[in-house]
Amino acid sequence: MRTRPTLTWTDPGAELPRTTSLTEVVDVVGRGRVAVLSGAGISTESGIPDYRGDGGSLRRHTPMTYDDFVATEHGRRRYWARSHVGWRTIARAAPNDGHRAVAELQKRGLLTGVITQNVDGLHQAGGATDVIELHGSLDRVICLGCRETSARDELDRRLHAVNPDFGGVATRINPDGDVELDEQVVAGFSLVDCGGCEQGVLKPDVVFFGENVPRPRVEQCYQLVDDSDALLVLGSSLTVMSGLRFVRHAARAGKPVLIINKGRTRGDKEATVRVDRPLGQALTELVGSV
Ligand SMILES: NC(=O)c1ccc[n+]([C@@H]2O[C@H](COP(=O)([O-])OP(=O)(O)OC[C@H]3O[C@@H](n4cnc5c(N)ncnc54)[C@H](O)[C@@H]3O)[C@@H](O)[C@H]2O)c1
Ligand SMILES: [Zn+2]
Repeated sequence: MRTRPTLTWTDPGAELPRTTSLTEVVDVVGRGRVAVLSGAGISTESGIPDYRGDGGSLRRHTPMTYDDFVATEHGRRRYWARSHVGWRTIARAAPNDGHRAVAELQKRGLLTGVITQNVDGLHQAGGATDVIELHGSLDRVICLGCRETSARDELDRRLHAVNPDFGGVATRINPDGDVELDEQVVAGFSLVDCGGCEQGVLKPDVVFFGENVPRPRVEQCYQLVDDSDALLVLGSSLTVMSGLRFVRHAARAGKPVLIINKGRTRGDKEATVRVDRPLGQALTELVGSV
């Protein structure tokens, strides 16, 4: 079954109160056994835009859907040409204070684990371990024929080899790791097939809009929430059910749900506390206070 992409949501209820105080978060995190669920908001301070924040990219473009990708070679050419240029920015992006703070909390034994909806690898680059990448990672590629996964760097080299004079120039990066390119430039881009089975279509190993997260990965996240005493949400609008379900799961079990995010989220109703602060400074303060 494919889910229809959820691009926005409308909150029917009144806006719930938010705070800038970390007192409650410090209390709960200090007791430990906390699961983290992060989203695009933790990486904006590393220069990767989010979808739905103030400068969010959904205001300008609609991300690639799974159906667009598999339906036509044109869709794939467009994706890979844009992504080929955008990959440089993603690969260069560095973790920020927020990622480092999460790693520090983990090092101090306060976290049961980290679930991220991000595909940029920055939690791990910031020192976190055993991160569950709910939506996969841009640094891997999967063959839709033989299902073999391989390193993005290897594909990058192959794409360079067949597109030595490709003239795409990075303008503004989108959260999916691609950039805007003229159709004319896209048309000049050559694709490569799977290096293993030599015929399969290559797709980044990320969950596109309209695609489901593999079930075992979902179960692993539910298990993590079950093994935790609280859930800490960092920088996610929780628009997509994919992440929101863990918030609802924790709330149903009576566990505290703490949200640190700029602006309201679709999980606000389920939250015990909502802290409206930029993550870099909020998490640095948290680390200094627990
Ligand atoms: N970096 C990435 O890998 C990346 C980036 C964008 C989107 N995505 C994909 O987008 C989808 C999910 O949406 P989402 O909920 O993660 O993102 P989202 O864009 O829907 O929400 C991000 C939220 O973070 C807030 N925010 C932005 N910068 C912040 C900061 N510095 N401090 C505190 N809050 C901040 C925004 O106001 C917004 O509410 C995921 O499926 C994910 O795969 C990934
Ligand atoms: Zn293959």
